[in-house]
Amino acid sequence: MSRIVYVNGDYLPEEEAKVSIFDRGFLFADGVYEVTSVLGGKLIDFDGHKTRLQRSLNELDMPVPEAMDDLLEIHRALVEKNEITDGLIYLQITRGAPADRDFAFPSADVKPTLVLFTQSKPGLAESPQAKTGIKVISIEDIRWGRRDIKTVQLLYPSMGKMMAKKAGAEDAWMVEDGLVTEGSSNNAYIVKGNKIITRHLGTEILHGITRAAVLRFAREAQMEVEERGFSIDEAKNADEAFITSASAFVMPVVNVDGVAIGDGTPGPIAARLREIYLDEMRKAAI
Ligand code: PDD
Repeated sequence: MSRIVYVNGDYLPEEEAKVSIFDRGFLFADGVYEVTSVLGGKLIDFDGHKTRLQRSLNELDMPVPEAMDDLLEIHRALVEKNEITDGLIYLQITRGAPADRDFAFPSADVKPTLVLFTQSKPGLAESPQAKTGIKVISIEDIRWGRRDIKTVQLLYPSMGKMMAKKAGAEDAWMVEDGLVTEGSSNNAYIVKGNKIITRHLGTEILHGITRAAVLRFAREAQMEVEERGFSIDEAKNADEAFITSASAFVMPVVNVDGVAIGDGTPGPIAARLREIYLDEMRKAAI
């Protein structure tokens, strides 16, 4: 069965879905996106992702697609048409396709481009990596200054993943002024003496939807949370480390720059948070 995708109002087989070569997403990375997970055929934290999408559009003065109020329906239709039980839904909005390449934003009559597609990942929440943990390396954070906007400018994070791969690791933590900002596509945490430490919100990191939920559950479970930057040295000396994202949920990190964290196996706090997160989010899924 060919995957059915959504492009500007139409549901089409993926081979038939087309976007103009003049699309500003293609020419200028002038686009924003969201990734929402699907578990048991239901959407995890849809409202959180939709709210952040609206904020990304506002921050970039990007026009809102006509179908903005239908996004839940479109997500659900794609889940159904593609028979997704577990997986991800990718959504992208760009500033549309004017008649020619031009740095200036197009006039108001150019409509934004809206694309959505599914990625089927059976057993997404039972990832074997959650049992073994992942290794990360540190790299310099040389991205632009508005990382709180979820844009499609993902070249450096892609390069970071490749640097990690080359070093035998799974991901890269980015460091700015001596402190970790975030992972290539996730938020970064350490645990020291029962305290969960993660970078404070600001323009330096993406305000993770998973991060917000995990910190809420941690506080509800009486765990101590400190929102501040931490260094790679501090991470190497931590008891535990982990990452969060819509696709990885809560994923333990067991090695940073070749140094084992704690005893080199996933820690109890990361495991507990993963369990609470998945339980609660499955209950609230729509
Ligand atoms: N990435 N930081 C960055 C740079 C990210 O790209 C992401 C998400 C996160 C975590 O945000 P959330 O919890 O809302 O997924 C943090 C998505 C999953 C991606 O690019 O595939």
